Amino acid sequence: MNAQRVVQQLASLADETRTRLLLVLERHELTVSELCAVLQMPQSTVSRHLRLLMGEGWLVSRAEGTSRYYRLASGLDVGARGLWEVVRNAVAGTSEAVQDVERAREVLQRRRSRSQAFFSTAADRWDSVRAELFGENPELVALLALLDPSLEVADLGCGTGGVAALVARFAGRVVAIDESPAMLEAARRRLEQLPGTGEEVQLLEGRLEALPLESASVDAALLVLVLHYVAQPERALSEASRVLRPGGRLLVVDMVRHGRSEYAEQMGHVWPGFEREQMEEWLGEVGFVGHRNHPLPPAPGAKGPLLFAAAASKPVDTARAGSDNLLQERE
Ligand SMILES: C[S@@+](CC[C@H](N)C(=O)[O-])C[C@H]1O[C@@H](n2cnc3c(N)ncnc32)[C@H](O)[C@@H]1O
Repeated sequence: MNAQRVVQQLASLADETRTRLLLVLERHELTVSELCAVLQMPQSTVSRHLRLLMGEGWLVSRAEGTSRYYRLASGLDVGARGLWEVVRNAVAGTSEAVQDVERAREVLQRRRSRSQAFFSTAADRWDSVRAELFGENPELVALLALLDPSLEVADLGCGTGGVAALVARFAGRVVAIDESPAMLEAARRRLEQLPGTGEEVQLLEGRLEALPLESASVDAALLVLVLHYVAQPERALSEASRVLRPGGRLLVVDMVRHGRSEYAEQMGHVWPGFEREQMEEWLGEVGFVGHRNHPLPPAPGAKGPLLFAAAASKPVDTARAGSDNLLQERE
């Protein structure tokens, strides 16, 4: 630190208003009008001192809407920090500084009161305000951020790749498998349009009953709205188990058993959804453990049957997972 700089910085600290501003702004980020209320000084005076402190690098500011917030710069050099500590120790106990601390507390309480006042009257309309600002349930997608970013995921029966594209934003690698070249082509086009997800999703043509994947090669397997197309669901579940690493997780999303017989004709459904007990039995047969079945709340406006999410794990103890291959051996 050169001598001229030290003298300049000492000069900027040699003023009671400026040291009071620095003391307050070291603890809180405040606007000019809030600082006027704390120091009980006119805006012109406060603004003039703020300008000087900004110019000397003591403060930083950020704009937020129509307001500008000021605070002590976090990146002060060692010399400046040393000078400030000496001055702070000398002035922090003065009666003005003590009163400033009290008034700053009140100013911040007023800020909180504004939000408290809003929420005290907004309880009835908050859900619609939230949906209008952020859409329906933005947190549902955000929950995927809880995934371990190194996770390797297999999306089995990926269709047009919507799930794979979503998961790829959060997981390490996604391999997406489907038997339909037309669906895979649509998935490829979707992924091309989403910068950043293309590299993490590998599209493969293959059947769920004989997956084109090495055994124990992924951490999670997804069967989303596909199991009701598979004539022998236990075969697909057995294959999912084979490709999962020990401790890997399976997620099945499908329809709760329903009576819409027209779906077989219209969309080629093989199964009219599934009962919880049936899923539990198949998952147990192929060696999954810890089955949990959650009925999903109906989405507003959805016309189809209710859905469930069934999750289960491949045992960490691979001796138990040996039963995975039971079905294949029986073939
Ligand atoms: C209703 S789509 C669902 C796609 C996607 N999972 C989703 O949620 O949008 C079902 C997909 O499963 C594929 N599929 C059906 N049976 C299959 C099988 N045995 N092996 C591989 N893919 C299959 C179909 O080609 C279709 O793309």
